[in-house]
Amino acid sequence: MILYFSATGNSEFLAKSLGDELGDEVVDLFSYIKEGRTGVFESTSPFVLVCPTYSWRVPLFLSNYLLTCDFMGSRDFYVVMDYGDSFGNAYEYIKDDLDNLGLNFKGLYGLKMPENYVMLFDLDSPEVNKKIIEASKEDLGKVASYIKDREDFPKKKVGFVGKFQSGVINPIFFKFIAKDKKFYATNKCISCGLCEKVCVLNNITYKEGRPVWNGKCTHCAACISKCPVSAIEYGKKTQGKDPYLLSKILEN
Ligand SMILES: Cc1cc2nc3c(=O)[nH]c(=O)nc-3n(C[C@H](O)[C@H](O)[C@H](O)COP(=O)(O)O)c2cc1C
Ligand code: SF4
Ligand code: SF4
Repeated sequence: MILYFSATGNSEFLAKSLGDELGDEVVDLFSYIKEGRTGVFESTSPFVLVCPTYSWRVPLFLSNYLLTCDFMGSRDFYVVMDYGDSFGNAYEYIKDDLDNLGLNFKGLYGLKMPENYVMLFDLDSPEVNKKIIEASKEDLGKVASYIKDREDFPKKKVGFVGKFQSGVINPIFFKFIAKDKKFYATNKCISCGLCEKVCVLNNITYKEGRPVWNGKCTHCAACISKCPVSAIEYGKKTQGKDPYLLSKILEN
């Protein structure tokens, strides 16, 4: 069973491609988390989590959610984590969580995908992103064959920098940087309600037809990337930039 969370489409694309390759069921965790439903998952094939990297680890809200779930049937659990630049020492932290759940961690595969963090970084051009998506297919083939053979993913060596990123910067990031005070909707907003629907943490409500961010944000970028009229900005950082959405890259 393949479980995934995706804000801007990368992990969804990988999870569904993997599902096709393995002939396995694919489950989107979005509505489970948004609606506060406990996940009870049963599978005879290994569990595979596909998710983005947030601050060199599995997103905090997602690893916290996994700890509340029941996993029945298979004990084997693979993690495929897509990243824009690097994934640090994520392995050790998700291993601890899966050990606590009594699962048999089969390793973490870091898979390069387009960067989506428009609130902090300049993003690559659509042409470059298209090439990155194309190149991911080779990695996906490797991931599928490890899983088919029930082999562990190879473990990567992590140096001082990776350990520092995941161990020291990650908690600082979630405490001080992943904040929503700088989000606002411009006059382009057509009050369609989509940003509220796509927020996995239910952080967006409405006041006089305009979105309001309520202080419980993980910076996933779904709201800013999925607004149909590009009405959402994050301070000055996003002005004049196109947010990333995989479906937009694939349709051109
Ligand atoms: C809040 C946030 C933190 C991120 N942190 C990292 C990171 O530590 N390392 C990295 O390489 N990419 C990082 N990224 C990029 C995403 O992991 C990457 O673009 C991912 O493929 C997006 O997946 P999605 O489209 O399924 O949401 C981050 C993105 C966001 C929004
Ligand atoms: S998705 Fe965009 S247009 Fe729709 S309500 Fe939110 S900000 Fe306004
Ligand atoms: S408010 Fe924060 S958590 Fe919600 S969709 Fe926007 S970036 Fe993601």
